[in-house]
Amino acid sequence: MKRLTVPAIQRRKVDGATAKPVVMLTAYTARMAQLLDPHCDMLLVGDSLGQVIYGLPSTVPVTLEMMAAHGAAVVRGSYHSIVVIDMPFGSYEASPEQAFASAARLLKETGAAAVKLEGGAAMAPTVRFLTERGIPVVGHVGLTPQAINILGSYAARGRSGAEADKIVSDAVALDQAGAFAVVVEGVVEPIAIAVTEAVSAIVIGIGASAQCDGQVLVTEDMLGLFERTARFVKKYENLAGVIETAVKSYSAEVSARSFPSADQTYAPKD
Ligand code: KIV
Repeated sequence: MKRLTVPAIQRRKVDGATAKPVVMLTAYTARMAQLLDPHCDMLLVGDSLGQVIYGLPSTVPVTLEMMAAHGAAVVRGSYHSIVVIDMPFGSYEASPEQAFASAARLLKETGAAAVKLEGGAAMAPTVRFLTERGIPVVGHVGLTPQAINILGSYAARGRSGAEADKIVSDAVALDQAGAFAVVVEGVVEPIAIAVTEAVSAIVIGIGASAQCDGQVLVTEDMLGLFERTARFVKKYENLAGVIETAVKSYSAEVSARSFPSADQTYAPKD
């Protein structure tokens, strides 16, 4: 199986309709990438790794070094999906030139194909600067977690008419600047549908609408590794429960000296 390309993903949307929705999940490690890769079109090395892997309170403290290390691992663990790496907070907002230096570093050090950055119309000049210089960009509008200190909470966005209009016009600005895809996160459904209809970019929903061109979730959320998740997360498994059961058995067997048994013990050769 050959690795998908950005133009191949773009071609999925014809006259505003995407016959084959784009399947995207987050991945931060090589092993998880191996497991997800055959079933996904795109793997996102999300800066959500700050909370999921590092136990940080938000994505704000995530660094370019963290993104580069996990991005390289995910590229090593995949051969089919497009790997997209989040630009961490502080690595791209100051200027298009700063964004180019950070994005180029991520692509060179990891082998990923594209970067994702948060923000609407204000980031459009940066998106244009990157795409004109050979860097495919995924935008991110609606609930933008890197702006938590401005937003104050992770609640759904776009409940007022003005905010709804702004989210749609932000997505249009990113589309016109050349973003090949736009993540729309945590918005009331009509906004997600309006964005999907308004832009030619692939719109990837998370807490948005099944009418988007594709969907993304944080893998650890959908596998049930965390008890508390956003309302929009569907838990397809209860991995926390599976791990607890396995670790309880291990602990009991170690305590009872029944592990390791003969099967897991090297006998001396005669
Ligand atoms: O960081 C991340 O995982 C993301 C997704 C939630 C879209 O940006």
